[in-house]
Amino acid sequence: MSRKLSSIRLGINVDHVATLRQARGTSYPDPVEASLVAASSGGDSITMHLREDRRHIQDHDIERLLQVSPVPLNFEMAITPFMLDFACRLKPKYVCLVPEKREELTTEGGLDVAGQLESVKQACARLAKAGIEVALFIDADPAQLKATRASGAPHIEIHTGGYADARGRRQAAELERIAAFARNAKKAGLEVHAGHGLTLQNVAPIARIAEIEELNIGHSIVSRAVFVGFAAAVAEMKRAMTEARRA
Ligand code: PXP
Repeated sequence: MSRKLSSIRLGINVDHVATLRQARGTSYPDPVEASLVAASSGGDSITMHLREDRRHIQDHDIERLLQVSPVPLNFEMAITPFMLDFACRLKPKYVCLVPEKREELTTEGGLDVAGQLESVKQACARLAKAGIEVALFIDADPAQLKATRASGAPHIEIHTGGYADARGRRQAAELERIAAFARNAKKAGLEVHAGHGLTLQNVAPIARIAEIEELNIGHSIVSRAVFVGFAAAVAEMKRAMTEARRA
């Protein structure tokens, strides 16, 4: 029996446009300019992660983006007093709460909601009071789903890094784990997003999971843009997701 699939949104993570800028301390390439290109090329939202060490996105990038972007900002942040104040002052439409370690190259695992439920709950309540919709970036682990339900967050983003790194049968097993988790999360009333490590080569099976409404993708799009340009890189990812969804 065929199921009618809804459309799927693409959130463009522009952190690594800023990585290139920070490598030389120049004013270019500008992640805000890239965001405008993304928005006119099929990007449905923009993600910026303001890391505590400011290795790529800077505070002013967030402030400037909010003044000019035609699509919503998904502000990625760790749960710290500064970031909570910053988000509540600037009021992006979305916040995604992530774990953060200074020495990591990228976000390595999902947020341990179960292990810090009280602080996650308080952060969710404060952000919700400011009118912000919160997602928790979590691994496809039933204990984290149970804790997320208790946290008050309306959305989750499933960490797809394990799927992206795996090959062969292990990758098929990861995919099945993510699909089953997405079904359970949706049944529990959560809006389901996913992301991390997704590329043109591995995105289709994830995009076919009907319960997933949004994918957040950055590194592979910025990398691909070196060869085809940013607008084309965004458009081809959106096309790959949409075609997979229809197949
Ligand atoms: N979602 C979250 C929560 C992330 O932390 C990241 C990486 O910053 C992404 C999605 C995007 O991952 P990638 O850059 O590998 O596409």
